Amino acid sequence: MSRLDDARDRMIVALDVADTQKATALVSQLGDSVSFYKIGMELVYGGGLDFARDLAASGKKVFLDLKLHDIPNTVKKAAAQVSRLGMTYLTVHAFPQTMKAALEGTQGTGTKILGVTVMTSYDDSDLATAGYAMGVKDLVARRAQQAKEIGIGGLILSAEEVTAMRALIGSSLDLVTPGIRPAGAAVGDQKRVMTPGEAIKAGATRLVIGRPITDAQDPKAAADAVAQEIAAALG
Ligand code: C5P
Repeated sequence: MSRLDDARDRMIVALDVADTQKATALVSQLGDSVSFYKIGMELVYGGGLDFARDLAASGKKVFLDLKLHDIPNTVKKAAAQVSRLGMTYLTVHAFPQTMKAALEGTQGTGTKILGVTVMTSYDDSDLATAGYAMGVKDLVARRAQQAKEIGIGGLILSAEEVTAMRALIGSSLDLVTPGIRPAGAAVGDQKRVMTPGEAIKAGATRLVIGRPITDAQDPKAAADAVAQEIAAALG
């Protein structure tokens, strides 16, 4: 794989749109510049599951961001169904039972499980209100250790957590980070952002980038610029 192809493989474009017409238009506009897409609940519940399967069948990698959490039997069977759709990543909440069940359901398939440690919308007081004795930092570390012990594929976490997490869990897990903004891009509702190069240098395996590419005047050029920046950071 050339360095630029490797860079493109590390850039996951978030298809945060409500319907498959918009998603189809974006994918065709982005063409060969993007090889990996994230599809979340909005598009899936808007009829996007077949779209996700077809996108994977067309040769793109697809990250299905469904954040599963249910009893183990249900999670195992749901994760197995997702693997049959040809998905590369599937998210689950990083509870030990849930991670183990999802791993069982996808064992021997091409689908990797990513754990969501603590939602970034939660702070220490939200956790206390929800009945947790730990603050965010400690709970993230605990769940990351459990994810490693259970052997899931990786974690999704904010870019600012990447350095500490790499030190804590080593190189075995994929660390996938949103909150990425190329220099000069609008920050929007993201509170803490990193550039693509910074996040890769901090130890991120892959980056999730939405609006800086999908809302750009020329999305393909924006994607190419991000890939070039990642390639430079990999160099
Ligand atoms: O448009 P933007 O680049 O901010 O999109 C980032 C993507 O990553 C969105 O799909 C968003 O839901 C997701 N995400 C995030 N922050 C988290 C978890 C997920 O931005 N903590």
